[in-house]
Amino acid sequence: MTTHGKSTVLIGLQYGDEGKARVMDTLLKNYDIVARFNGGANAGHTLKVGDVEIALHQIPSGIFYKDMMLYVGSGCVVNPEKVIREIEEIQSKGLEISKRLFISGYATLIQPHHLLFDEIYGKHIGSTKNGIGPAYADRAMRAKHKEIKNIRFGDYLADPDTFKEMARNALTKMIEKHGVKNLDADAEIKKFHENVFAIKDYLCHDPLMIENLIRSGKNIFFEGAQSVMLDVVTGMTPFVTSSRTIAAAAYTGGDLSIRYHEKTLAVAKAIMSRVGNGPFVSEFGGERSEAYCAEGDGFDHVKEKEYADSNPEELLKSDDKLEIGKGLRMLTGEYGATTKRPRRIGMLDLVMLRQNCKLNGVDELYINKFDCLMHYSKTSLPGIPLVVAYDLDGKKINYMPASVSENRRVKPVVEYVPAFKNDISGIRNYDDLPQEVKDLIKFIEKHVESKVCGIGVGPEREQFVTIC
Ligand code: IMP
Repeated sequence: MTTHGKSTVLIGLQYGDEGKARVMDTLLKNYDIVARFNGGANAGHTLKVGDVEIALHQIPSGIFYKDMMLYVGSGCVVNPEKVIREIEEIQSKGLEISKRLFISGYATLIQPHHLLFDEIYGKHIGSTKNGIGPAYADRAMRAKHKEIKNIRFGDYLADPDTFKEMARNALTKMIEKHGVKNLDADAEIKKFHENVFAIKDYLCHDPLMIENLIRSGKNIFFEGAQSVMLDVVTGMTPFVTSSRTIAAAAYTGGDLSIRYHEKTLAVAKAIMSRVGNGPFVSEFGGERSEAYCAEGDGFDHVKEKEYADSNPEELLKSDDKLEIGKGLRMLTGEYGATTKRPRRIGMLDLVMLRQNCKLNGVDELYINKFDCLMHYSKTSLPGIPLVVAYDLDGKKINYMPASVSENRRVKPVVEYVPAFKNDISGIRNYDDLPQEVKDLIKFIEKHVESKVCGIGVGPEREQFVTIC
């Protein structure tokens, strides 16, 4: 008889920002531990319960469940200063965190020079400037002669004098190399050192902690950061993040044996979007849209500007796909949460979903923004467009080719299903959904070969239809 607890992994299937947090919100109550296994402060989501709202980047969700343990695994890269800020914000809302947050001693520290490096070199791929790439690069580099490149949380605390000097050397060299003005290495390193020590009480010293908890019957929920298309190996490199974002990474970066895996949940968004550059096969307006959204580093067409310039309902009637995408962006609010920069918009790509569901063994698929598909009824298009195959140089394929240049060349093969006109945002039960919506869910399941277990029908927590 099994007595150990269960382990569940949640991932995003597209380019990030699918709304994983809101899906988790409804599921977490059945778990004892919520853990991060990849990434760092580049992730972000806002949690809201009642009037209390908290933006988290590194600390796992689950903060509103007062007895939930929060674990940051060895696969993460940790910025101590930002962890402190998040803890302060959490405490300022009257929530207790001190005895339930644990950060793996194996987790890599983001050093001051990582932030500087990202600032100087990260622009092309639209990095979030959190030093994520440089930190993972140093982790893989390990050492340059005797100079240690990777500094782990546990190592720093155990031998602070050595590692403080390592961090100082790396920063000093970078400042000199790039002729950086207005950055005082000594002051930066002093601050870094103090910040690492300010979070020392959260150190998880014991690599078997999670394993022991599971064996004692506790349930763990692994919360993926970013999404599968941003995976450093199988995503659209170089426009990706620097960690592995696939479901299996939960176990390598979350410090648990795969033996306990029970199921994989995945989240997608019915109106696809992506920030930053890189191939996006189903994008409305293709490369013109990519260039438009990148103008002025993304700031030329921020939310207020697009609203001041255009009427979204008029844009939807256009024959130009770029304009349709713009109208959909406006009506569905697809702008950067903090920067307000426009996100690129695309049709729901079932080739991508199918591949990512299969590669990640998805047991339950959740699709957010389903209500937004209603806007297609106001467009010049003959229905809701769904990408069902790719055309690569005249050949029909049902997978994403394993090269960036081919992904730039492929054309989407689109099928249209009848567009529903009704607003479904008030519906909470599957049986009450219009027949067109039920048929659409079946269509998606047939192509993706995964069960759709829930759809989001609005931004509020309760605007959700559970299907299985
Ligand atoms: P980095 O992870 O900061 O190095 O950024 C690399 C790429 O991943 C950039 O295109 C970012 O916009 C993207 N990215 C990183 N984190 C997220 C996320 O949480 N959501 C969406 N895109 C992200």
